[in-house]
Amino acid sequence: MGGVIKTSLLRNCWYVGAWSDEVAFGRPMARTILAEPVVFLRYEDGSVNALADRCPHRYAPLHQGRQVGDQIHCPYHGLGFDRTGTCVHNPHAGTRIPSHAVARTFPVVERYAALWVWMGDGELADPDLIPDFQCHVAPDRRLVKGVVSMGANYRLINDNLLDLSHVEFLHPTTLASEAIARGEHAVHVDGLTVRSDRWCPDGAAPPAWGAQMPDHEGPVDHWLEMRWTAPSMMLLDVGITPTGQPRSAGVGALVSHNLTPETETSTHYFWGVTRDWKTEDETVDRIWEGAIEMAFVGEDAPMVMAQQVALGDQDLYDMRPALFEIDLAPNRARTILKKLLKAEARSEIPEGPVDENGVGALTAS
Ligand code: FES
Ligand SMILES: [Fe+2]
Repeated sequence: MGGVIKTSLLRNCWYVGAWSDEVAFGRPMARTILAEPVVFLRYEDGSVNALADRCPHRYAPLHQGRQVGDQIHCPYHGLGFDRTGTCVHNPHAGTRIPSHAVARTFPVVERYAALWVWMGDGELADPDLIPDFQCHVAPDRRLVKGVVSMGANYRLINDNLLDLSHVEFLHPTTLASEAIARGEHAVHVDGLTVRSDRWCPDGAAPPAWGAQMPDHEGPVDHWLEMRWTAPSMMLLDVGITPTGQPRSAGVGALVSHNLTPETETSTHYFWGVTRDWKTEDETVDRIWEGAIEMAFVGEDAPMVMAQQVALGDQDLYDMRPALFEIDLAPNRARTILKKLLKAEARSEIPEGPVDENGVGALTAS
């Protein structure tokens, strides 16, 4: 009880657990989320499920098992678990199935080309709380996507993405623009959402964007508008247009950045670039994959990981960092997160595997 915050990880929210095409029938997919091993399953009818990736018998990893119809059979002693996580198949003659032979299930929703998983109290898992990423599946758009592992607490990556002033310095060959530092910046808070909007007129095109408008020489107006929804779901509306022209005369993209904590100090970073131009042109896909590899993997990841090393197990905002105007949006997001973490610390959420009686699955009956 009490409101002591012991973790930075929120449980009662939706996270991206996987891209839809990472999970196929017969190919269970394992991912650690909030320090819990999870296995994602797709059944023959196309539906999906998420179970604790620990067999309630002896903690063997279920993802190494075999899908047999609607069951996953454990690779160790062959017990089979149905969609509810209940052991319904016991190949060992003359032995009963204990009532707590149940693998925990997690609510999962397939939407926007992703599997969204709820790691907290399943009673609260309202699919309407999933933020809008319709751009992933809009028929007039093309999605290029991936997932990157970053060895840093998700809040450091939130801070990175909510303060895009860093791109001029950290991404000189891809996303940099000197116009960002002198442009306009507005931050708005609405409930659990923070908007960080930058308007950067009359500057040189960032290299990766300039390459998309090869026929244009001269200055561009550049926009970067980030929508952040707690705890770590982001959509960036970004692009360039010839200075003074409407946005429709230029090129832009809606780019999702969805962070799923793996542990306190590591994060699965799901990124998706969607565009409504040259939607059939795979060479544009490759250009964006290359830019992401260069910027996110080659530049952002080493930076946030270096921050994490410097911080150890301490939180940056406990260290009285020197903050500037550029930090306004990260500060707003941090404030929202702190409130949510306090509220969650006050509620008593069962941790670890729990069976239908609310008893730890490995508690002897
Ligand atoms: S550990 Fe899974 S069946 Fe024994
Ligand atoms: Fe970056």
